[in-house]
Amino acid sequence: MKVVFFNSKEYDRKYFNSANIDGHHEFVFLEPKLSLDTVCLTQGAKVICVFVNDNVDAEIISRLAINGVKLIALRCAGFNNVDLNAASEHGIRIVRVPAYSPNAVAEYTVGLMLALNRKIHRAYCRVREGNFALNGLLGFDMAGKTAGVIGTGQIGALVVRTLCALDMNVLMSDPIINEGCVELGARYVDINTLFAESDIISLHCPLTPETHHIIDAAAIDKMKQGVMLINTSRGAVVDTTAVIASLKTGQIGMLGLDVYEQEEDLFFEDHSYEVITDDVFERLLTFPNALITAHQGFFTADALSNIAATTLDNILQFENDSLLDNEVSIR
Ligand code: NAI
Repeated sequence: MKVVFFNSKEYDRKYFNSANIDGHHEFVFLEPKLSLDTVCLTQGAKVICVFVNDNVDAEIISRLAINGVKLIALRCAGFNNVDLNAASEHGIRIVRVPAYSPNAVAEYTVGLMLALNRKIHRAYCRVREGNFALNGLLGFDMAGKTAGVIGTGQIGALVVRTLCALDMNVLMSDPIINEGCVELGARYVDINTLFAESDIISLHCPLTPETHHIIDAAAIDKMKQGVMLINTSRGAVVDTTAVIASLKTGQIGMLGLDVYEQEEDLFFEDHSYEVITDDVFERLLTFPNALITAHQGFFTADALSNIAATTLDNILQFENDSLLDNEVSIR
């Protein structure tokens, strides 16, 4: 089947070509994102493949439908960038990769916590400059401290498991109970208790209307002074302006972000020769106690192999008119 890829990078080409062992599918790898300007490139394509920051809103979907697109294959887990109602209206089906490597994101999340706490990213630069002083690098033992995990699905549960292994007390918040986490000794509490008692708070819920800005000024006020906040889920789960205000007062003591509300204008591209005009993002970069990365939690060789294999299976199921195991539809 012919598949038009948007937003494709060298690593997408490599892993998708490897997964297409028998050459069954024909790939057209396009570098631009899917947008109103590029949607014309889908003319005659039945299947397109997009990533987290491609715009798949109602207007784009209506143009995709006119061009004959019948399937949008997301090569990611999250689908908050897709207007599902519009897709359903136009008879376009959506598939995704629900779990390509929860371990990749969970390990990265704990890596951010460890690096931030012990200032490993700052120490690395210092030592290279011949500065071997320890001032400013003071951390705390994570063993015995309390971590709050919001969202205990596939990734959150693995983070819980790792933090329990580090001898942390783990509090959790999720409308769905994960018994495996409870068996590890972690406890479900109401979200305000989690805010009040946690030394580290890590976000692993999807972006939905309910979770949009779940971390806002009011939530931050309920947290411990100097709390560490980690977000590897979706940028808009956090109100960035409120986070900046509380970094200034010290209410948030350490911040680790792998996702950002307006990341679609920045992440996954090299902007190092340009002036970045997003003042909110630039302000975040000025804090010595903030560690920001550009949505790389998923980025392991294992995850890329799994993404390619599952996406091609999803497309094959569509081609064969089979049940779509990983279809996303309106609840
Ligand atoms: P999942 O669907 O397995 O788990 C999400 C959990 O959040 C579910 O248990 C759900 O009940 C819970 N949840 C929903 N609303 C909630 C609320 N209001 N409060 C607390 N919990 C709530 O999802 P998965 O695979 O664990 O992914 C988690 C997040 O990680 C998603 O936002 C996803 O987009 C993001 N992600 C980030 C990546 C990165 O590279 N940084 C890569 C892959 C996923």
